[in-house]
Amino acid sequence: MADALFLGLDVGTSGVKALLVTEAGAVEATATTPLALSTPRPGWAEQHPDSWWDASLASIRQLLAPRSARRVRAVGISGQMHSSVFLDRAAEVIRPALLWCDGRTTAECAEITQRVGGEGRLRDWVCNPALEGFTLPKVLWLRNQEPAAFARLATVLLAKDFVRLRLTGTLGTEPSDASGTLMFDPARLRWSRDMLDAVGLPVSLVPEVGGSSEVLGHVTPAAAALTGLVPGTPVVGGGADNACGAAGVGAITPGEAVASWGTSGTVLAPTAEPRVDPALRAHTFCHVAPGVWYVMGVVLSAGGAFAWYRDQFARDLMGADQPDARLTEEAAAIPAGADGVTFLPYLQGERTPHRDAAMRGAFVGLSLAHSRAHLTRAVLEGVCFALRDSVSILQELGLAPSHLLLTGGGARNPLIRRLQADVFGLPVSTVDREEGPAYGAALLAAVGAGAFPDLAAAVRHTLTRAPPAYPDPQAHRAYQALYDRFRASYPASRPPRTTEPRVG
Ligand code: XUL
Repeated sequence: MADALFLGLDVGTSGVKALLVTEAGAVEATATTPLALSTPRPGWAEQHPDSWWDASLASIRQLLAPRSARRVRAVGISGQMHSSVFLDRAAEVIRPALLWCDGRTTAECAEITQRVGGEGRLRDWVCNPALEGFTLPKVLWLRNQEPAAFARLATVLLAKDFVRLRLTGTLGTEPSDASGTLMFDPARLRWSRDMLDAVGLPVSLVPEVGGSSEVLGHVTPAAAALTGLVPGTPVVGGGADNACGAAGVGAITPGEAVASWGTSGTVLAPTAEPRVDPALRAHTFCHVAPGVWYVMGVVLSAGGAFAWYRDQFARDLMGADQPDARLTEEAAAIPAGADGVTFLPYLQGERTPHRDAAMRGAFVGLSLAHSRAHLTRAVLEGVCFALRDSVSILQELGLAPSHLLLTGGGARNPLIRRLQADVFGLPVSTVDREEGPAYGAALLAAVGAGAFPDLAAAVRHTLTRAPPAYPDPQAHRAYQALYDRFRASYPASRPPRTTEPRVG
């Protein structure tokens, strides 16, 4: 396998990233195709699954154009969790997918909790509460709100499983993504008949569950013609983006913890058995390493809040070289606490710790003395404080991490790395091949192709950790007080309910 390559694909929210990894773990090439997000109403978020497929094709084609596809021994796919692909009997997409950050299903969450007989049952059957972002409430929304579309529904898939279907013609999923549907029992590793019966859905709606590094299909001649891949190339199960992101920094065993800064922000800790937060503020899902689970807190708008802020308030930087870096440089010159400005990043509601889809974002404490740089600093700090809520929950559950591995935008940017160390009060480190979930997916492909006996061996052979950056004790003390200010500002994110006046 001297010149072997493993293709990792991540079907994210802001884009589809593809990369090629050698057996030694080096990244030979990457390609990213951006995706648009549709927000037809406040709190809603949709993407058409065909846009994921088109972006996957573009990214894969770009990677393969200058090299021989024969070198690609296997493909692994990671993807945004929970987002609902509704397919009819002919495997055609019925309507755009409702995404993980879509908050329209509050009534369906109440319906589920009531039908099963309370949250205790949900904890026993699926280890998680009914939250708007999860897949099952979206299926019930379709049944309640779009009955004609529901009548056509034959299969519910997740984002990366849809792309695998288009590549291989095979329906399937694996435990890390299945456990985010609220229809799968993460403890017993099977679809929960109890859950499906309680809500009146047939098990035929969901696909077979295979392994994350197991080959679940092979590239069809039709997909080969579109992508440039060789027909018959094996495609493994892959995994949920958070699980693949953790694998991509080597966090696959208990004792580790990862803070990820993608469109969402997450903090997760792997566990040796399914551990459930008694207050159900954090989620319990299966990892991509067999026999490992994780507990995770989710901030719905992390990089997503920053991207929204940049697009709305830094239009002058559009077209500039590295607009994000320019903004964070401005923010680095502002003192901790942004001279009194607090940002609450709840633009799409919030999961951890609030479990409230109706929350909204807010800037608090603005004055004439504040500049854009203050607001940028407040946005970055606000996301870190929101992530700190999840770190605190893990600590409360006895999963206190002694250090955090960083992945995503927060790993790559020096100011955000420093902010995380100082706000969390923990040493933070990165790995030499920081490429996010696509890298973890490529490692799963390498295991599936037989290059490594298991994921632990793949991680050992490919990744090296940089020495940790330690928090500055004085800055951490200052951020403790600012974190209290952030928490005291929560009420600003629950605007009073009024009827919108209609003019004209
Ligand atoms: C996790 C979640 C998000 C998405 C982002 O529960 O909803 O982190 O996976 O792609």
